[in-house]
Amino acid sequence: MIDSPHPTGPGHPRATRRGLLRTALGAGAVLGAAGPLALGPDRPAAAAGRTGTRGIAFHGVHQAGITNPPPGYGTFLALDVKARDRAALQSLLHTLTDRIRFLTAGGTPPDPGPDAAPTDSGTLGPVLPADDLTVTVAVGASLFDRRYGLAALRPHRLTAMPAFPVDALRPAECHGDLSLQVCAENRDTVQHTIRDLLRSSKGLIRPRWQLDGFQNRSRPTGAARNLLGFKDGIENPDTGSAREMDALVWVGEGGGEPRWAAGGSYQVIRAVRTLLAGWDEVPLRQQERLIGRRKSDGAPLGAANETDTPDYSHDPDGAVVPLDSHIRLANPRTDAARDSRVLRRAFNFDRGLDQDGEPDLGLAFCCYQQDVRRQFEAVQGRLNTEPLARHLRPTGGGYFYVLPGVRDQDDWLGRTLLAGT
Ligand code: HEM
Repeated sequence: MIDSPHPTGPGHPRATRRGLLRTALGAGAVLGAAGPLALGPDRPAAAAGRTGTRGIAFHGVHQAGITNPPPGYGTFLALDVKARDRAALQSLLHTLTDRIRFLTAGGTPPDPGPDAAPTDSGTLGPVLPADDLTVTVAVGASLFDRRYGLAALRPHRLTAMPAFPVDALRPAECHGDLSLQVCAENRDTVQHTIRDLLRSSKGLIRPRWQLDGFQNRSRPTGAARNLLGFKDGIENPDTGSAREMDALVWVGEGGGEPRWAAGGSYQVIRAVRTLLAGWDEVPLRQQERLIGRRKSDGAPLGAANETDTPDYSHDPDGAVVPLDSHIRLANPRTDAARDSRVLRRAFNFDRGLDQDGEPDLGLAFCCYQQDVRRQFEAVQGRLNTEPLARHLRPTGGGYFYVLPGVRDQDDWLGRTLLAGT
């Protein structure tokens, strides 16, 4: 952890909880440990990485990379599938499963000897660290077109991401047949993983777009700040509560989705640029009223601490937390809005300068939910009119459906979709 930016600090209650878990369990299990992703008996002991972790369990009812807190780095990679038929698509998913199972556990890559090309790029040295690596694989609506005969199996709410009124989408940064969310404590682990997965899937996929994200350090304590300088990731559903995750994140059986989809989740990715030239000139009080929280310590306006719950029932006209502030529109805390909560798992991105010399940076927003219409689209619908939107420019992203988890050594990603078992 010493050399990776870390989202939370010792003063933050969730960080404390995570810190305790790390100490107690050797880190990898983190918050998702309470759920089915807990370290399983079949968990191979991984070589100690730079963070000294054993890794996050790959096998489970659900995929990893959703209920565990975002580590230092996360990249979103969208791919188009070039497999010529369904058998080749199945072979691609087998390969991805095998590689992800190996890479997330860490260990020593096979040595084919000096007369063959090395099996591994070598960028992480001879022994791969587990490094809290997770790779979360999801499918886009386009995979359910006529190519693979899957049209009847498309999750019902899975469409291409629509353009919202605030959007300035660039086609080259949107959609895809597959999305891979690759997260680890260190940037080189993420990069090594992507290189490995692209090499082993050669000929079967074509990369479409990539969004590289990172977490800032916690400064001085509590949730990490995003690039507007505000603490972000304070409020979220409780990932330690299986009941809450089953109600808000996971698709279950009998919920109107195809049977194969049970155990999956809808993933929404949005590359949201923050337009700094205007934002940096906004007076502090106004910035705080746009967000609804204090910039210094992240507390809701009118409250004392970052983790305090804003009390909207005693502020019906928005005198304290404006009605059109980001947090109040995103989550008005009414009974009706409870079911529209999403699990946010965002990173910052920084793509350097654009053609005009303006910083091209912002939020690699990602959220998970059981129903993209009831949840993300309801929240985004309320945010379409927020005054903060003047300082934001969504340029890309997509809707995807996270495949159910890989149960054990014999299972593979997409089995229930392709093999129907
Ligand atoms: C660049 C874009 C964005 C920025 C800078 C931003 C910033 C923030 C900040 C500073 C907070 C308060 C801290 C917290 O509660 O975690 C927050 C909360 C939140 N944001 Fe965003 N956000 C952005 C985009 C979005 C988008 C696209 C959505 C969903 C459509 C969203 C949904 C939420 C939700 C649900 C909360 C929690 C509100 C609560 O429960 O009180 N945000 N955001």
